[in-house]
Amino acid sequence: MTAAAQGPVADQSGGPGHGRPLAWRDVRGDTRRRADELICTESESVALEALRTATGEVDGGMERHTVRQYLIAERLAEARGIAYDREVLLCASFLHDSGLYGPASSGDVYIKDSARYARRTLEPLGWSEDRLRTCVDACEQHHALTSRWWMPNEVELVRRSDLVEVLPELMRFGIPRSWLKRELWQAVPRAGFWPATLAITREHWRRMLPGMFTPPAPGRSSA
Ligand SMILES: [Fe+2]
Repeated sequence: MTAAAQGPVADQSGGPGHGRPLAWRDVRGDTRRRADELICTESESVALEALRTATGEVDGGMERHTVRQYLIAERLAEARGIAYDREVLLCASFLHDSGLYGPASSGDVYIKDSARYARRTLEPLGWSEDRLRTCVDACEQHHALTSRWWMPNEVELVRRSDLVEVLPELMRFGIPRSWLKRELWQAVPRAGFWPATLAITREHWRRMLPGMFTPPAPGRSSA
């Protein structure tokens, strides 16, 4: 666990054992939050474990990225009154970058490997093909350069929230910078995000760049 992962753990609203999972409205800058507090179904728990298996870390930089990205997606959806399947959105959030890591990688373009890893993680849990497809598409389409509202809402919510998370100075889709800076980035620290991203990019650029911004058309997915 990195130094950034230390800090007081919430003991009041949100989180397992408190009646409901953590939601974006619970985020306060003075209370450290963790991925486990988002979990309320077996599939979500399995998806988080799969992420931890891929990265080899608990509460590491990538896991914290997915937690922030999911909470941003929740806020984006609420602001626009967009319906979504919480379990699909959360599992896709946990797994959308998993293909960067050895246990989830086949050496192919990483968004395709993320999609394949999501499918083989969730398929044994009895998901319908429609829900699996949405989760797979959310992983595979998350670097698309144009809106994906014509696909299930979860796909575009992952794409937008990842943009806010990675490029907050350029793309916020109405998310206040003050909330990011004073609340979210304190509760789920970004420390180490850019060095880790640069290290991954240096190591894996050959399978990141090809196809990264031109995901396959629906029906032509690799997963
Ligand atoms: Fe991401």
